[in-house]
Amino acid sequence: MHDPDTFQPPDAIPLAGVIGWPVAHSRSPALHSHWLRRYGIAGAYVPLAVLPEHLGQVLHTLPKAGFVGVNVTIPHKEAVLALADIVTDRAALIGAANTLIFRPDGRLHADNTDGYGFMANLRQHAPDWVPEQCPSAVIGAGGAARAVVAALLEAHVPEIRIANRTRLRADQLRAEFGARIVVYEWAQAGNMLDGAATVVNATSMGMTGRPPLRIPLDALGTDALVTDLVYNPLETTFLAEARARGCRTVDGLGMLLHQAAPGFERWFGHRPEVDDDLRRAALA
Ligand code: ATR
Repeated sequence: MHDPDTFQPPDAIPLAGVIGWPVAHSRSPALHSHWLRRYGIAGAYVPLAVLPEHLGQVLHTLPKAGFVGVNVTIPHKEAVLALADIVTDRAALIGAANTLIFRPDGRLHADNTDGYGFMANLRQHAPDWVPEQCPSAVIGAGGAARAVVAALLEAHVPEIRIANRTRLRADQLRAEFGARIVVYEWAQAGNMLDGAATVVNATSMGMTGRPPLRIPLDALGTDALVTDLVYNPLETTFLAEARARGCRTVDGLGMLLHQAAPGFERWFGHRPEVDDDLRRAALA
């Protein structure tokens, strides 16, 4: 007899996707489809354009159509927390989720893998990077910056300096994340680079079509690792200037690739590799 609580026939092909509005720009379908092909897994990953007012209804329905989980992107990353039954600590701390798992018991599990992706990218491209001995400097205080700050705190960075155009948002980060956060005035952002082992652009400045991030780099030490969350273009003006000063730089594409891996593993049962083939697939 049909058990109304069992959505999946035994031979179901697992489905996943990315929910956004708009969603056509998302690279996630290219990444996951590459992995599905590479590992010979019967499954599919599709873009799902969903209006904010339909999000709850869609999340309720997808598991009944064979979906095992989804990524969520702009503008749904915060709203999804209120709809989830289980929210991981890191998603709660960041205040946003990007990876949802539709559990067999019907419960919706929400996680945030952006901070994991950020750390995994730096560890892959700078294996000897030691973040925990010196301060980090983060430019920006939006959603992406929150994930970076949470990850750096978890990595035992002793001090995280933040400057943001809208100072109030940086002050809010300090109020939520605690005394290891030190807020700098936007006009003095260059000063926070002095002695920093890690420097991160977590603003949207430098993205194709937008002005570059302009911060005086005079205080930047040559042993600092400099990274940009912007990956379009791969080398932003900010990264090019840091590289010209002798710093090691890591582009932001790897964060996007690595944040996708935990979801893929949960949904399709295989821990995928982040390598040059995947980079090419993401850029194609
Ligand atoms: P995301 O989730 O990608 O972080 P967001 O929450 O909109 O997106 O944050 C964008 C970040 O880029 C913020 O730090 C923003 O600064 P404000 O908080 O002052 O808006 C920063 N940003 C965007 N445009 C900027 C600009 N022209 N100059 C400086 N910072 C800018």
